[in-house]
Amino acid sequence: MFRLYPSPAEVEAPHTIYDAITFPPPPPERPYTWINMVATLDGRVTLGRGRIRTPLGSKLDRILMSRLRVHADAVLQGAGTVRDAGYFPRVPDDLRAQRRAAGREEHPLAVVVTRTCDLPFDAPFFRQVPGRTLILTTGRAMPERVEAARAVAEVVVLGEDQVDLAGAMAYLRRERGVAYLLSEGGPSLNHSFFAQGLADELFLTVAPRIGGYRADLTAVDGPAVLEPLPELEPVSLYLHERELFLRYRRIDGSGRGGQ
Ligand SMILES: NC(=O)c1ccc[n+]([C@@H]2O[C@H](COP(=O)([O-])OP(=O)(O)OC[C@H]3O[C@@H](n4cnc5c(N)ncnc54)[C@H](OP(=O)(O)O)[C@@H]3O)[C@@H](O)[C@H]2O)c1
Repeated sequence: MFRLYPSPAEVEAPHTIYDAITFPPPPPERPYTWINMVATLDGRVTLGRGRIRTPLGSKLDRILMSRLRVHADAVLQGAGTVRDAGYFPRVPDDLRAQRRAAGREEHPLAVVVTRTCDLPFDAPFFRQVPGRTLILTTGRAMPERVEAARAVAEVVVLGEDQVDLAGAMAYLRRERGVAYLLSEGGPSLNHSFFAQGLADELFLTVAPRIGGYRADLTAVDGPAVLEPLPELEPVSLYLHERELFLRYRRIDGSGRGGQ
């Protein structure tokens, strides 16, 4: 692996590049938030809208995805991602001591936002680490779904028709002590994050492949052009074999100062 930016250099241990990174202090009203995604060269983050299960990224991408969680008090996913993938955001064994030393639980709190509470309650997201899953939902969710949810997770209703994302961030920060939040997508949730100025950084792996299907989603995919367009600057860029690992932060918001 080569670090292309800042200060170009060869990297001995590619899987550790994000182990010791730092983030700026969180703003008082919400967690400092970074999003992690993997896309093809033509920008797709799904293949056949989820019907094709080939992983987009390499084994190293999946390793870095799990290692990025070491810095997070909570990991958030949209319901679409939980329905599609259903994994619990575990931290690798060798990084748990680092979390304990920082006064954190071994695994982040796994949080899902959903209007409907229509979720796969048998999936590892809900079953793998008991007591570490939180569902943020709305008054629109069917009572029987909410009841089924309460059997496997903590459920908090935050809004009537939809979860107010800024309100949810304030809740996580104030009531749950979440100072650092990792969002693992998907694209609709990412759109809300950028639309509301709630995302500070984007970690994006660019896989050396072409998807090509126009119905596939991009990393940030929503019903409207973002206005104004969020502006970002590079924090670090790495090339490993044919794949790029990019870390960008917003320069029009609060995200400044990490290394
Ligand atoms: N390549 C990558 O890095 C990557 C990463 C993540 C996901 N993905 C893929 O992306 C696809 C899913 O993306 P997606 O955009 O369809 O789904 P998504 O963003 O994961 O989830 C969207 C859903 O989240 C809930 N939601 C979002 N905002 C909400 C709010 N403010 N209040 C209440 N609920 C809210 C709604 O759930 P309800 O429908 O329950 O109301 C909504 O339908 C999957 O195929 C997944 O594998 C790819």
